[in-house]
Amino acid sequence: MFIDATKEKMVFDEKHPLIAIKHLQKVFGTKEVLKDVNLIFPKGSTTVILGLSGGGKSTIIKHIVGLMKPTKGKVVVDGVNVSTCSELDLREVRKNIGYLFQDGAMFDSMNIFDNVAFPLREHRKDMSEKEVEEKVMKMLTMTGLDAKRVALLAPNELSGGMRKRAGLARAIIMEPKIILYDEPTSGLDPITSDLITQLILKLQKELGVTSVVITHDMKESFKCADYLAFLFEGEIIEWADNETFNNTKNPHVIQLLSGSGVGPIQFNE
Ligand SMILES: Nc1ncnc2c1ncn2[C@@H]1O[C@H](COP(=O)(O)OP(=O)(O)OP(=O)(O)O)[C@@H](O)[C@H]1O
Ligand SMILES: [Mg+2]
Repeated sequence: MFIDATKEKMVFDEKHPLIAIKHLQKVFGTKEVLKDVNLIFPKGSTTVILGLSGGGKSTIIKHIVGLMKPTKGKVVVDGVNVSTCSELDLREVRKNIGYLFQDGAMFDSMNIFDNVAFPLREHRKDMSEKEVEEKVMKMLTMTGLDAKRVALLAPNELSGGMRKRAGLARAIIMEPKIILYDEPTSGLDPITSDLITQLILKLQKELGVTSVVITHDMKESFKCADYLAFLFEGEIIEWADNETFNNTKNPHVIQLLSGSGVGPIQFNE
């Protein structure tokens, strides 16, 4: 199933992955968080990465967007090795990536409207202020927010869930080819969680987006995933399509799915 991601530049077609992670190792100080991660994200698909808290899921996403550099190994995004490419190339790659941060990070000094408009004002200087406004209001509405009510509020005047949705509006406003969702539904009620999941599916269907979703929410995972991957002790120990993953015989995955404290996954703390 693996493709050769060793070339600096690769031309991907429909059959090839848009993102390939090859032998990724990441060490912080003396802590080896990622040992040897190998994973591909086929074009137009949604892949959910599951794993224990502190296992390194956000670390993987930060490598895809080039915010972190590997200790060893590489990440190739749309033919560009983001682990070694120039800042200029990385900027080009990032134009095509929407990133929903785990904490829904917003610029505190800007209101919600300006936060969501930020990527357009950075990269789409051809757009008029009226076009920017239309787009921002549309994106806020799409994520289930009352656009008129929240636009002029400061990020700290929103609830955590509302901030998350505003972060999502900002992540998708450039209509990126790739969207990285770091815990898009955590802290949200089940109805809003479903709305976000439906939005992930809609973006995949209508815009052909390739999505990477990190979540602890099993119900939402199986609703949106084409593929699921389980990160455990620094490696992907299971990768399968939705149905296969759900019916796995892997005892680690069975324990994860059942949320049981009893099984091969032991906690030492
Ligand atoms: N910049 C950093 N410097 C040092 N250690 C870091 C850094 N970023 C992450 N870590 C460590 O790497 C480990 C994995 O962190 P990461 O945030 O990737 O986990 P996660 O799987 O996303 O967890 P969660 O489900 O709780 O969000 C943690 O032990 C964390 O302390
Ligand atoms: Mg995380």
